Amino acid sequence: MPEAERPRHGRGLPEVPLSDTTSRPSATDPGYVLDPAWHAERERLTSLTGLYDGTTLRLADQLGLTAGWQCVDVGAGTGTVAQRLADRVGPTGRVLAIDTDTRFLAPLASEVLSVQTHDITTQLLPEGQFDLVHARLLLEHLPGRDQVLRHLASALAPGGWLLIEDFDWATAAVIDPPAPVHQRVTQACGRLLQAHGYDPHYGRRLPRSLRELGLTDVGTHAVAEQVDADPVHGVPQWELLIHQLSPGMLAAGLVTQVDLDAFTDLLHDGRTVVFAPLMVSCWGRQPPVSADDGMR
Ligand SMILES: C[S@@+](CC[C@H](N)C(=O)[O-])C[C@H]1O[C@@H](n2cnc3c(N)ncnc32)[C@H](O)[C@@H]1O
Repeated sequence: MPEAERPRHGRGLPEVPLSDTTSRPSATDPGYVLDPAWHAERERLTSLTGLYDGTTLRLADQLGLTAGWQCVDVGAGTGTVAQRLADRVGPTGRVLAIDTDTRFLAPLASEVLSVQTHDITTQLLPEGQFDLVHARLLLEHLPGRDQVLRHLASALAPGGWLLIEDFDWATAAVIDPPAPVHQRVTQACGRLLQAHGYDPHYGRRLPRSLRELGLTDVGTHAVAEQVDADPVHGVPQWELLIHQLSPGMLAAGLVTQVDLDAFTDLLHDGRTVVFAPLMVSCWGRQPPVSADDGMR
């Protein structure tokens, strides 16, 4: 990763124009099937933020995150990343946290952290605005991900960074000791998600996709976290996802209740180790405006 340049303080730090969201002509994207209103959705998302926030913030720091930056977190979920970005960029910078459902975000709003209900598949972000555009575990769900990615890149200020983090299920079946039920249930889960346009291999496509958008300094960090089958807590990253999707998986005949019970037992057995899907964090930069451009 190259040395980050100093942030651009000279742009007058405009307020992020919250009302500047015009409708886009494209149809809405039906991809996201997980339910923010599901009774344990906050716990499910917290199981992910606990695993991945540290890396996200470390990468943002390496990209140069500092006071005064304008950031947007797209599909901000419970807002833990947005809040930590706000701690870094405030009081002179701004963070916009957007989501189609802001129930977890609304209480976090502050002078520095703005919260907006916003569907990134149908509403525009202001162009050329942000020093950092971040989206984690969102684009993999959206069938219109290529168009959304293009739009996110267009929201970058010259020299701004796009940081996109999505899973690649390359490691989703890695488990020790071997347990066929794990593969059966996680594969069924993947099939159900794919039926709604989910791409289980989006992570590996990120570097190419960012380069094709003309971004520079494209780099990647990828990790498959070790998660232990805890007798008390199980493996909430898998269990809460499977639990939420189990009515659909059962109705489609993808699994049986016996499979689901065996899966739960396995993830509480105190000895099994699973490796999470590969989390691919990919960054790229909008080329800075050169002095020559201003002369033309
Ligand atoms: C899997 S969660 C990830 C949350 C957070 N980025 C994280 O990594 O902890 C995906 C989030 O994207 C939001 N979302 C889904 N579709 C969206 C859309 N079209 N526009 C904006 N947000 C969306 C969901 O409501 C949810 O909060």
